[in-house]
Amino acid sequence: MKVTVDGRDIDAEPGRSIAAVLHADGLRSWRTTRVEGSPRGLFCGIGVCFDCLVTINGRPNLRACLITVREGDVIETQEGVGRA
Ligand code: FES
Repeated sequence: MKVTVDGRDIDAEPGRSIAAVLHADGLRSWRTTRVEGSPRGLFCGIGVCFDCLVTINGRPNLRACLITVREGDVIETQEGVGRA
């Protein structure tokens, strides 16, 4: 299936989490922290640490490791708290 990441079309394996899709695409970080701007991405992989926050279909601060990818998802990396 197709999704976009920051406007770039990529192939996504059905049934994978958004985090797995981003990881498979080579991304290791997809947000920055609010204060220091440090890179963050997949860490715990089970919804506990909130390191993997990402914007999906215009909704910021979603945990990429808990959400299953859907056809046509628009995924955006985010800085700090993100923008709705
Ligand atoms: S990687 Fe920890 S909440 Fe997603």
